[in-house]
Amino acid sequence: MPNIRRVSSTPPPLLPQHIDTPDNTQETYFDFTEENYKLVNKILSKYPANYKQSGIIPLLDLAQRQHGGWLPVAAMDKVASIVEAAPSRVYEVASFYTMFNRTKVGKYFIQLCGTTPCMICGSEDIKKTIEKHLGIKNGGTTEDGMFTLLEVECLGACANAPMIQLNDDYYECLTPKTIVELLEACKEGKPPAMGKWGSLPMNGQVSCEGPLGKTSLWEILPPKVDPERFKDGKVDPASVKAHMSY
Ligand code: FES
Repeated sequence: MPNIRRVSSTPPPLLPQHIDTPDNTQETYFDFTEENYKLVNKILSKYPANYKQSGIIPLLDLAQRQHGGWLPVAAMDKVASIVEAAPSRVYEVASFYTMFNRTKVGKYFIQLCGTTPCMICGSEDIKKTIEKHLGIKNGGTTEDGMFTLLEVECLGACANAPMIQLNDDYYECLTPKTIVELLEACKEGKPPAMGKWGSLPMNGQVSCEGPLGKTSLWEILPPKVDPERFKDGKVDPASVKAHMSY
């Protein structure tokens, strides 16, 4: 972003400020695809015409998904021009929320939780295993651009520690063995499908059940929303994503 601009030939570390790289300057081209412009219009239609700036976060998210998981300055500038805001207003949003990556990340972006419950349950071992298996350090990206590893704070799945977020999905109850299996599956382009509730304990347990299995909440509550989505007491993870998308 504007104040600190020097050119680097190597990808920058995950810094709060912007540093120009060959693929990330204000001159780099970015525009939404025709298909995504339909979503842009759909997003903006949710807000009053004089409050277009309310759409900054969903538009940044859309831009990031279109651009392989990260946001070049040009994408932020495009969002600013669409919502008629000063570019700095968009930069400050993108640099505040950690869901936005302002430097290039790998095809598989691994966010490893290192907060206390995960740390006690072995996240350090998981981190060391990932680093050794992929030959990168925390904050690094593999040379083939496939994986980026970043240690983050609690991702809210402490009951199934240790865990990672892989792109949009959670993989939980990890061991050094299962994380290697997961990485290998990713290399083959086949990460395991999500489990029933959209995230996947890697030890075969169901959802957040402990080692003794289900010990409480026996009563099956009637669904409160859209019974079709919860037919037979099951929910298709794909429908959760579709329901939450634009
Ligand atoms: S401490 Fe790891 S998910 Fe909460």
